[in-house]
Amino acid sequence: MNVRVDVSTASAVQRPLIACHDLGHVYDSGRGRTVALDQVSLTIQPGEFVCVLGPSGCGKTTLLNILAGFVQPSHGEVLINDHAIAGPSPERGVVFQDYSLFPWLTAKANVGFGLRMAGRAAAEREAVASDLLRQVGLPEAGDKYPFELSGGMKQRVAIARALATRPALLLMDEPFAALDAMTRASLQTRLIDLQQQSAQTILFVTHNIAEALVLGTRLIVMSPNPGRVIEDIAVDLERPRRRTSPAFNELYDHVARAIGLDTAE
Ligand SMILES: Nc1ncnc2c1ncn2[C@@H]1O[C@H](COP(=O)(O)OP(=O)(O)O)[C@@H](O)[C@H]1O
Ligand SMILES: [Mg+2]
Repeated sequence: MNVRVDVSTASAVQRPLIACHDLGHVYDSGRGRTVALDQVSLTIQPGEFVCVLGPSGCGKTTLLNILAGFVQPSHGEVLINDHAIAGPSPERGVVFQDYSLFPWLTAKANVGFGLRMAGRAAAEREAVASDLLRQVGLPEAGDKYPFELSGGMKQRVAIARALATRPALLLMDEPFAALDAMTRASLQTRLIDLQQQSAQTILFVTHNIAEALVLGTRLIVMSPNPGRVIEDIAVDLERPRRRTSPAFNELYDHVARAIGLDTAE
């Protein structure tokens, strides 16, 4: 069976890129108190493609926002390369579900935005943006504005933009959830290629089991109320991964049971 509860033999020898210790997060609003995260401890090694899976409301976005530096956890700490995360940084690139491109900037200027903020020269921004747009399969789109691009194209630009500052960690929050099935499948393949070529460390949030199993080298399964990690599984299915393969289905059923889904559906 391809299920192995992670005992992280690798973490003993390699310095983790990310280390979360006993993370907790509580939202206290006028309408009550929600424990969005509770006792979350995990380490991520460089080059891992980690998928975080769980039903809506289990704290996936909260975890991603803490790693991005947008949210300060109520409890615990996060280290990146042994340093506490103090706020957002170009070393962590983020791609959101909604197409969060700047509508007034061309695709190329969107990709080069982080470099511009970092004070890098126009020629360098141009070269990096052209190269990344080629890598995501949009070599012709540089001068187009977001309104001229399809949803899938916008998300490819968003990925290129997140990669432009060469982040140590790429954080993706359900980036393909709003796309049609064919576009989603093609972007999944592109992301796998990109990750394999560059050994980019990725944390990818999804509520879609098949998507997590197609993409990740590791799967972190969460459950809600309070948001906790319930499984940490090394996904060693061969690539290309076939949803029709027995090993894929065995793992799918295992994960579905873990999150309380009836797989007979
Ligand atoms: N800004 C907020 N204020 C109050 N509650 C929130 C806020 N953001 C998220 N929550 C609550 O925290 C829990 C986890 O949310 P979230 O991290 O968005 O989960 P997921 O991304 O897995 O759907 C949910 O119950 C959600 O309603
Ligand atoms: Mg979310």
